[in-house]
Amino acid sequence: MVVLGADHGGFCLKEAVKAYLEKNSIAYHDYGCYSEESVDYALFASKVAYDVAEGRAEKGILCCGTGIGISIAANKVKGIRAAVCTNEFCADATRRHNDANILCMGGRVIDEETAVKLTKIFLETPFEGGRHARRIAQIKEIEDGEKL
Ligand code: RB5
Repeated sequence: MVVLGADHGGFCLKEAVKAYLEKNSIAYHDYGCYSEESVDYALFASKVAYDVAEGRAEKGILCCGTGIGISIAANKVKGIRAAVCTNEFCADATRRHNDANILCMGGRVIDEETAVKLTKIFLETPFEGGRHARRIAQIKEIEDGEKL
């Protein structure tokens, strides 16, 4: 299950991602927004991030104007590794190396075709583990209040 969220700046990308998921029979839940009317991105980041962090969804996709604000908000939730991606290399690397669980994209940065390509890579690329698992464990230590 994939959860989707966007503000007005990411609405078009989120709709394109949704169409891709539909076409490929990938289960999803869309938390909105549902139009280009101005809304606050943190509300959607919270819904998607808690679903992923609490195991109701495997992965999330969040879109705003830049992908940045919505990623900052999502990364405040424990267990979330939300990555802003603008190209295929980053979408691949953030799965292989960072085990990112939320993909963030910007509707004022990339086009819909790119967003769909990044979504496909993000959903299909496995985490490599190994030395990267040690680094993820260190991120978790920081999250738990440790000073490394
Ligand atoms: C909304 O205008 C815009 O600030 C938002 O979509 C996002 O880009 C924030 O990081």
